[in-house]
Amino acid sequence: MPMNLKGRSLDSALNFTTDEINYLIDLSIKLKHSKEQGLHVNSRPLVGKNIVILFQKDSTRTRCAFEVASADLGASCTYIGPSGSNFGKKESIEDTAKVLGQMYDGIEFRGFKQSDVDALVKYSGVPVWNGLTDAEHPTQMLADYMTMKEHLGDLKGKKVVFAGDIKNNVARSIMIGAAFTGMNCVLCGPKPQWDIVKSGPDHKEVYKKCQELFKLNGGSVSFSDDKIKAAKDADVIYTDVWVSLGEDFSLFEPRIKELGSFQVDMAMIKAAKESVIFLHCLPAFHDDHTLFSAEIKEKFGKKLPVVATGAMEVTDEVFQSKYNRSIEQAGNRMHSIKAAILAMLGY
Ligand code: CP
Ligand code: NVA
Repeated sequence: MPMNLKGRSLDSALNFTTDEINYLIDLSIKLKHSKEQGLHVNSRPLVGKNIVILFQKDSTRTRCAFEVASADLGASCTYIGPSGSNFGKKESIEDTAKVLGQMYDGIEFRGFKQSDVDALVKYSGVPVWNGLTDAEHPTQMLADYMTMKEHLGDLKGKKVVFAGDIKNNVARSIMIGAAFTGMNCVLCGPKPQWDIVKSGPDHKEVYKKCQELFKLNGGSVSFSDDKIKAAKDADVIYTDVWVSLGEDFSLFEPRIKELGSFQVDMAMIKAAKESVIFLHCLPAFHDDHTLFSAEIKEKFGKKLPVVATGAMEVTDEVFQSKYNRSIEQAGNRMHSIKAAILAMLGY
């Protein structure tokens, strides 16, 4: 059933209903099929609309997805990078929001604080898409559950295991997505993090809202610190970097020590269903082909064997295997962002 989401903002996925989120997932799949059939060429529903994408942190997928989706829909897209404006430095978020709202029909924002997204929504007067904050990554969540739906069909009762930094933005978005789709989500990470996710000051409201959604939609969230046990019967194994954008390089060593036993390796994959898929929001450290992972290997490889090859959250064996669907998941960012733009700017 079509939904009217015109004028809405994707600031937090939790501001949407179950039907609305599932509608956006389904619309993403439809738009993908439509592009595969070449139908997008004759349909530019957003000609004359203008979108600005504002990044306080760098990006490959989110930026490119917004630019390609805008082009496909006929809208213009202006990119402003981390050093490309005075946003938040010489000009307040309120003033920037008011000015951008005069020129643009919609604003994508990637930054640190969720409250900055809220301010953009409040002061711009146009739809805002959260392209990642320290709290949440809702456009990623749409692509993640779209990818799962493409592979698993009906998601109700299926099992997704997130292994690693279970208190980060992507882990939270996986929990939220499970609550909307009725999946069983296992957050597999160190015990001290369990209480942070359940009752930490920045987490407890979200956890509570997810519990309410699980009651409504089925599914559950549970915790484990044993990746092999957690993987049993899993349909999806998901991980993310151990140190997120905006966090200091000095955190790598303590995080490797804290999260090393949650590295996704073949033993974990083999403990899951034979049909399991591996997902990662990307970018991933799975070898020593990045500046950071080469440095980690050099500095800590001998002392901490889990990172001896430069791989951190996932081994290269898993990343190169048939189980890895993270590349098509990345492609799905474009289709799901297109769905969010189209739905919120209107047909
Ligand atoms: N997954 C994701 O948001 O990737 P980028 O940081 O490249 O946008
Ligand atoms: N948790 C990661 C996700 C990157 C897409 C970060 O915030 O950097």
